[in-house]
Amino acid sequence: MSDALMIDADSNALLVELAVVIPTFNEIDNVEELLRRLERVLQGVAFEVIFVDDDSPDGTAERLQALSRRFPRVRCLRRVGRRGLSSACVEGMLASGAPFLAVMDADLQHDEALLPSMLGVLRDEPIDIVVGSRFVEGGAVGDWQSSRQSISAVATRLSQRVLGLTLADPMSGFFMIRREAFEAAVYRLSSIGFKILVDLLASSPTPLRVRELPYVFRNRLAGESKLDNRVAWDYLMLLADKTIGRFVSPRFVSFAAIGASGVLVHLAVLRLVLGLGGDFVFAQSSAVMVAMVGNFLLNNALTYRDQRLRGWAMLAGLLKFMVACGLGAVANIGVASYVHGDSGGWLLSGLAGIIIGTFWNYFATAYLVWLRPKRA
Ligand code: GDD
Ligand code: MN
Repeated sequence: MSDALMIDADSNALLVELAVVIPTFNEIDNVEELLRRLERVLQGVAFEVIFVDDDSPDGTAERLQALSRRFPRVRCLRRVGRRGLSSACVEGMLASGAPFLAVMDADLQHDEALLPSMLGVLRDEPIDIVVGSRFVEGGAVGDWQSSRQSISAVATRLSQRVLGLTLADPMSGFFMIRREAFEAAVYRLSSIGFKILVDLLASSPTPLRVRELPYVFRNRLAGESKLDNRVAWDYLMLLADKTIGRFVSPRFVSFAAIGASGVLVHLAVLRLVLGLGGDFVFAQSSAVMVAMVGNFLLNNALTYRDQRLRGWAMLAGLLKFMVACGLGAVANIGVASYVHGDSGGWLLSGLAGIIIGTFWNYFATAYLVWLRPKRA
């Protein structure tokens, strides 16, 4: 052991008690102000700030690196070729040795003035995680559109019903957790999508002792929200993974759900073309084509969002997808005929064909179309 380490080991004073982990994507005009505010509210606390940036095109990482040269308590963990709010938070927390780990957004919507009280609770009480909550007495969402309010309410109720979570604001992205509680949960985390708090609460091997503290959700300082429709889909995939994930992968759930929606698209197009006076074979063929293209686009955008194909690769992917699913249809028909000939009823035979066809389509397209290493 070097002399320097011997000296540090002699002193019990913690040089880092708290890590504030901040995921960023295109937040260049927010990070400096956030840092200024953290310095102000956390005076006297030994803290470090770990920004996790997914290679933002606006140059957030360069700005953060410049800040880290001037302020040793700041670090920028830059991820290349990756996206994801939850996984960014997880990796930021893993990068720190601090006993207390906070997560907050970079856009100043989360009230940094709450951090000292959060820390106080973890220091003094037998609580594992303190959550900044908009839905307990004293908290509020600020001026949110009513559509966003009702979506948030539905998502919250889902987590209460499906996962049995009891807190008022499980969707919060603002919390502070004891490192041991985080580490006990880390192997089971799904790290899908936006809802890292739901993930942590549902992944912990023992129920976490939670305290909610109120705060008022503010407006974004600069830049725009990354919350879009895909975030809702990711949330459903998180719920699926947390319930049936032991048996099937969330990708398969996503693929099968999109496949099922393809049946509706198919029937709708069939009806439409027949209604326009097309003959049946033409109408059925159009329906197959539209459903296949639709399924491909949805799977590309949702199931394989993290390795989405673009441009020419997308066109090539579509052709391979159609070939693979065409073979899947042959397998489907083959299996169904076999079961039927073996005296199975129409329902059982049809279902057997669908199940085999779906598995075939999933594995064949995963292998042929999407799950390829980007750089060999
Ligand atoms: N590294 C990384 N990668 N960061 C991301 C990504 C990503 O793919 N997507 C978003 N972020 C960062 C943003 O830069 C911001 O700092 C933070 O995550 C939250 O993103 P916003 O786009 O501002 O989300 P929001 O304000 O709509 O929703 C937030 O607040 C809600 C209420 O607390 C999120 O924290 C939600 O999870 C939360 O429910
Ligand atoms: Mn925000």
